[in-house]
Amino acid sequence: MLELDYTNVLDSTIGPSHGIPQIAFEKAAESSKHVVEHVQKAHESGELGFGDLPFDEGSVKSVTDFARAHGQRNLLLIGIGGSALGPAALEAALAKPNTDRRLIVLDNIDPDFIHDTLESIDARETLVNVIAKSGVTAETMATFAIVRQWMVDAIGSSEAAKRFVATTDPAKGDLLAIARQENYPVFEIPPNVGGRFSVLTPVGTLPAALLGFNVGAIMHGARDAALQARKSFKENPALVTAFIEFVLERERSKRLLVLFPYSQPLWKFAFWFKQLWGESLGKKLDRRGRDVYYGQTPTAALGVTDQHSQLQLFIEGPNDKSFLFWDVKEFRHPLPIQHSFSSFDSMAYLNNKTIADLFHAEKKATEIALTDACRPNATVTVARINEETIGGLMMFSQYVAAYAGEFYDINAFDQPGVEYGKKLTFAMMGRSGFAEYDRKIEETRKRERAVIR
Ligand code: PA5
Repeated sequence: MLELDYTNVLDSTIGPSHGIPQIAFEKAAESSKHVVEHVQKAHESGELGFGDLPFDEGSVKSVTDFARAHGQRNLLLIGIGGSALGPAALEAALAKPNTDRRLIVLDNIDPDFIHDTLESIDARETLVNVIAKSGVTAETMATFAIVRQWMVDAIGSSEAAKRFVATTDPAKGDLLAIARQENYPVFEIPPNVGGRFSVLTPVGTLPAALLGFNVGAIMHGARDAALQARKSFKENPALVTAFIEFVLERERSKRLLVLFPYSQPLWKFAFWFKQLWGESLGKKLDRRGRDVYYGQTPTAALGVTDQHSQLQLFIEGPNDKSFLFWDVKEFRHPLPIQHSFSSFDSMAYLNNKTIADLFHAEKKATEIALTDACRPNATVTVARINEETIGGLMMFSQYVAAYAGEFYDINAFDQPGVEYGKKLTFAMMGRSGFAEYDRKIEETRKRERAVIR
């Protein structure tokens, strides 16, 4: 089970201008009951589905059965946003160096990137998972067309059809229709689970199973975190984290949230979290339709690497950030340091310590330096990185985003800004049904450009 240490956001630690008084937590314990109730009710009514996913036993069996029957070395994933960041984060956290399975993610349409990626892998050893909740996203559909042709060229069309699997909405979208036409297996994303909340649907669990991870354990960890997220305030780290970030952003002007894992395997998890936080909370309107322009900008830093890059700014630059550390107690390989250079000061003190000791010390040092500079920081700790803890961290994070949405009183589950961009792209590329956006595009084309050459 994960733990949250929020000592360094308290005003008793970092002062009243930047910290939160203990009394605010006491009051929130009472006043935040509606937050949990509202999200829970939305689950009970079927409006929301992410928190219920790990309780569905059948979902694990279907992906593990499929994985058992598909032994290709390469898994080529085509998807973007919520349809790519989750599986990429799982792979980064769980892949072992000696694995013979490889995940390749095509989540960008830089044509040279697509070309060079395809050139670097053997189509005959590749299974392709096309993922799109909407089943129409331009980047995903275009990349699918290129990859399908690449596969057909390599192994012929009837064999190629056996190398694709689609993950999409069960009832709508062209990806579903194409998959049916081509006889591709289809895995469903429940309609009540949005893209960025879909990592525990086959969006994440199918790639995880194909990469040989223990999906049952991921779900087990997620289940424990979901149960913990339904508890009362003082036993509920997800609710307290949401409350902290809400108060820091609204009342202490911490407009940026720095996600700071001290764990290399959690680096892509930080990128997954960025989407979750940014798309869920960055909203123009609140639930009453008032202009609010809310949101805390998420950004990421990696311990220890960013100690030698961004940390100077974090400690002495503007005090406009909140920091969320992601810490790990035990490492699989602590790496004892033993050497014969004890006559050198810079080496002597390291002898008989471990790299893990140094890693922990550096995290603590960063925490102290930030705290001394009155920068609010909290730490989420897991015992170790494995399937269970990553499942727990992901479920925890989704509840933090959902609860923060409740505190802000916004809809954390839509993304009108993203949809607008998608529609403009469709119009620009001549997709029918989007002509109403042509005027806007024409206006932009006609605008005199301010360009220097
Ligand atoms: O969270 C979201 O809903 C979005 O970021 C989507 O994940 C992203 O736009 C990709 O959409 P789709 O899965 O429909 O291709």
